[in-house]
Amino acid sequence: MAKDRLAQLAEIERDIENLKSSPLYKYRKENKFHAVIGEGDPHAKIMFIGEAPGRQEALKGRPFVGAAGKVLDGLLESIGLDRQDVYITNIVKDRPPENRDPQRDEIALYSPFLRRQIEIIKPKVIVTLGRFAMAFILEEFHSPQKDGKISELHGQPIPIKAPYGPVTVIPLFHPAVVLYRREQKEILKEDFRVLREYI
Ligand code: URA
Repeated sequence: MAKDRLAQLAEIERDIENLKSSPLYKYRKENKFHAVIGEGDPHAKIMFIGEAPGRQEALKGRPFVGAAGKVLDGLLESIGLDRQDVYITNIVKDRPPENRDPQRDEIALYSPFLRRQIEIIKPKVIVTLGRFAMAFILEEFHSPQKDGKISELHGQPIPIKAPYGPVTVIPLFHPAVVLYRREQKEILKEDFRVLREYI
């Protein structure tokens, strides 16, 4: 019998916990951080993909539980969605030092895990948070928009074909931008409303 989704996700968790080949593994251990695999409904219709865990996330082993997470929670609430109804993860599953951008080699190392998560959960809608997640997903699924800029594509549903069926990608700005550019809040809120159609 095929393993259920929770069992398959638990396998990914084990693989990442033991990912000694990661350049971020030593940093995780030295700081008593956790890998952040993802959380939510394994049967979720909507999957959110961020960049990489920050300090709070690495301390707790959960995605989007720091300042950017509060913004995300507020946005979810604004359209009547609960965290438990969606699945939330990142491309890179360990915290990069000093919250720097994820590097190309880190994205390459961790992306097979994200690929497996997508294959298991089979979301109908993938919401990318920030330019790294957007670029990765559009490239991964050979979207003609793959070289597009987030400043042009944000809030626009983009149809892609996953091996398991059609998916709508909705690129959004990263919720952390709101923390240092208040004027982006309205844009993000407005973009988020697009999601209501897919709930
Ligand atoms: N930023 C991200 O991209 N992911 C998190 O989990 C937290 C902050």
